[in-house]
Amino acid sequence: MTAHGLTFSWLMQNKHLVVLSGAGISAESGLSTFRDAGGLWEGHDINEVASIDGWRVNPAMVLKFYNLRRRQLKEVEPNLAHQLIAGLEDSLDVTVITQNVDDLHERSGSTKVIHLHGELRKGRSEVNTDIEIEIGYEDIKLGDKTPDGHQMRPAIVWFGEMVPMIESAASIVSTADILLVIGTSLSVYPAAGLVNYAPEYAKKFIIDPSVPDLYSFKDWKHIQKSAAKGMEELVKEFLKKENYE
Ligand code: OAD
Repeated sequence: MTAHGLTFSWLMQNKHLVVLSGAGISAESGLSTFRDAGGLWEGHDINEVASIDGWRVNPAMVLKFYNLRRRQLKEVEPNLAHQLIAGLEDSLDVTVITQNVDDLHERSGSTKVIHLHGELRKGRSEVNTDIEIEIGYEDIKLGDKTPDGHQMRPAIVWFGEMVPMIESAASIVSTADILLVIGTSLSVYPAAGLVNYAPEYAKKFIIDPSVPDLYSFKDWKHIQKSAAKGMEELVKEFLKKENYE
């Protein structure tokens, strides 16, 4: 079994690695995180641009905000952390559950990606949640309609809305042999609660340059590094056969 030319122990074969990722994994690609800038995201109050109330008050501003995010996404590339996670599919059964709305996991080759908070490259009907359209990196404008005749809005799960994928995500986490939390402050629920579904026997890792709440994470191995450096260390850890006997 190999990952980027490295040989994994046979003991690792078919292990289920579940990755819970957040904005920090895309920071080294040039996309801003949410909370590192003191609650402002590129100069905007998150509650004004990422909530259903914000959409009702000022849809033009919300569209403009996500159009800018989409244009920016087109210009950036996946980084080594995304690539190493994708490469682990050579050796492990990998499922990525991301809070990110970017497409950097997919663009680096990950094949099983669940977007808890939606996707920038999709638009949806303002009224019917199940009517979604692939829009690539194009803008959405006021007056753009979905086939049901309603205003198209970004297919983002905003504050104040249900998280449709949360139940399937929880059942995926409950089958993890290895759980990796990378680049998320775990401050937004219900996503943050997913870690509680991991089996007790699962090996648990967190990659984040910040120190997590040690009470919640006392059984976890904390790799206190950026996403790319942390992933390099994790791959080395996986290569130590004795860790998985
Ligand atoms: P946050 O901004 O809350 O957390 C980012 C995490 O990444 C923090 O723990 C940082 O320490 C860490 N970090 C920063 N730079 C890093 C790097 N280079 N490598 C690794 N980690 C790094 O982002 P999320 O937890 O993803 O929701 O935020 C969760 C949700 O809140 C988002 O999905 C979004 C937001 O409001 C919606 O838009 C609905």
